[in-house]
Amino acid sequence: MNRNVATIPQDLIAALKKAKHVVVFTGAGVSAESGIPTFRDSLTGLWERFHAEDLATPGAFHKDKELVWGWYEWRRMKVSQAQPNPAHIAVATLATLVPKLTIVTQNVDDLHERAGSTDVLHLHGSLHSPRCATCGQAHILPPGIPVEPEGGRRSSPPVCICGGLVRPGVVWFGEDLPVRELRQAFEAAQKCDLLFAIGTSGLVQPAARIPSLAKQAGACVVQVNPTSTELDRECTWSVRGGAGEIMPNLLQAAFGPA
Ligand code: OAD
Repeated sequence: MNRNVATIPQDLIAALKKAKHVVVFTGAGVSAESGIPTFRDSLTGLWERFHAEDLATPGAFHKDKELVWGWYEWRRMKVSQAQPNPAHIAVATLATLVPKLTIVTQNVDDLHERAGSTDVLHLHGSLHSPRCATCGQAHILPPGIPVEPEGGRRSSPPVCICGGLVRPGVVWFGEDLPVRELRQAFEAAQKCDLLFAIGTSGLVQPAARIPSLAKQAGACVVQVNPTSTELDRECTWSVRGGAGEIMPNLLQAAFGPA
């Protein structure tokens, strides 16, 4: 027996087998095994002396547009070079195994979609959909993977046809989340019978309310994370380990080999 493999509780397996509506709520940890640093990992290269929280603000963009645009282009390159990992694939597979699945992510990457998931609710926007900071017009990025140096670089944001500067299509600290996505995520949390919180520290509101909304409405809440988090007290089960190992094991335990 491999002692590193977390034991999956039998009552969790039973709950998954009979669940009618499952919500999967993901954070940066679900993409960690694809080589994408989590939000609270230390930054390196040009951004070594910054915290991600200090770059992901309207004020940071206002103060130093080249620094912030360069950071997002570097992140877009990293995500474009990465591949979905077994956790993303297990989540996409789960949609074929339960009557209803809603995927809600805080991630700005597209790895759920590239694993085959559709209708993913992105609460914090996307690296792949920049828009004009002045008129809001969507900006079409050049095709292909951006070529950025490993240590990052400052880079001027593109200019919109209105003359305004283009900004990343993400939600920054202090900004509102997209109304439709947030409403649908809250509704799904309140209607589901089982919610997975995978790879999130549960620190950033209002997204972090989602597991507690599910719990208050009577759903079971499962956390998949190698460490303890703010969400521990909301959870019916906390399965400790990497999502890329736990999620495929859990699907196999509940539904048999793929
Ligand atoms: P964090 O970086 O705060 O947390 C990532 C979580 O993933 C941590 O709890 C890790 O223990 C866990 N983790 C690491 N490796 C894992 C693995 N292999 N499998 C499962 N879990 C793993 O990221 P988020 O919770 O996503 O918002 O952060 C939430 C939001 O805070 C982000 O969307 C971003 C940030 O501020 C904005 O940019 C608005």
